[in-house]
Amino acid sequence: MATQTNARRPLIVGNWKMNGLRADARALALDLATRLRWHLTPAFDMMLCPPFPLLADVADAIRGSDLGLGAQDCHAKPSGAFTGDVAAPLLKDIGCSAVIVGHSERRTLHGETDAVVKTKAEAALAAGLCAIVCIGETESERDSKRTLEVVSRQVDGSLPQGATATSVVVAYEPVWAIGTGRTPTPADVEEVHAAVRARLGTRLAGGATDAGAMRILYGGSVNAANAGQLLNLDNVDGGLVGGASLKAQDFWTIAQSCH
Ligand code: PGA
Repeated sequence: MATQTNARRPLIVGNWKMNGLRADARALALDLATRLRWHLTPAFDMMLCPPFPLLADVADAIRGSDLGLGAQDCHAKPSGAFTGDVAAPLLKDIGCSAVIVGHSERRTLHGETDAVVKTKAEAALAAGLCAIVCIGETESERDSKRTLEVVSRQVDGSLPQGATATSVVVAYEPVWAIGTGRTPTPADVEEVHAAVRARLGTRLAGGATDAGAMRILYGGSVNAANAGQLLNLDNVDGGLVGGASLKAQDFWTIAQSCH
């Protein structure tokens, strides 16, 4: 990665979505933690984001390893009468260091707007968690050549107040590429990531310096075969991986293809 700084060490995040039972989750987490422990010089950071009820099991399975733990969503408030929701301080308490906010499945299926995503990201930061803020265009937006406009608007609307290069990670996930087996070309990915980084430079208090140090992940049908091409571009600092993160060997191969 030509422009990589230390802060932009590649990060590979496994988004398990609504998959797994306790035994599979523990086995998968333990398998990856063991691989990471025996790998002398991993060139990447790795994180698992299981469903809420599996967080404690996974935290237990990865204890003592460098494997990170994240959640897939949080509420904007730190506590209160919000049946079924989960607060960021509890995620922190259970061992998470990060939380995904604004995943397209949340935006689409739960009606989350940029404003909602922003308040969730701010709740994450207030709890001491890193916010992994997801953005990405739909297929019709891409077809009408509005990709850069859409992701810029999402950056503007979703970025939490006080975001820094270490408290926020941006994940660019074209909606049409998620779970479909289709991906943009590496050139298209690089174009969007460069534009997102430039936009971040205009929004962060730390300006271009912070934008240059913030990690921007690519997500959407990353697999063991295409990771090398998609995740080693100048402005790509790792991946947010769904389906392929459920198989230890595939996820490990994806991580190892980052350098
Ligand atoms: P996918 O999902 O890798 O299965 O396409 C990515 C994501 O939704 O984060």
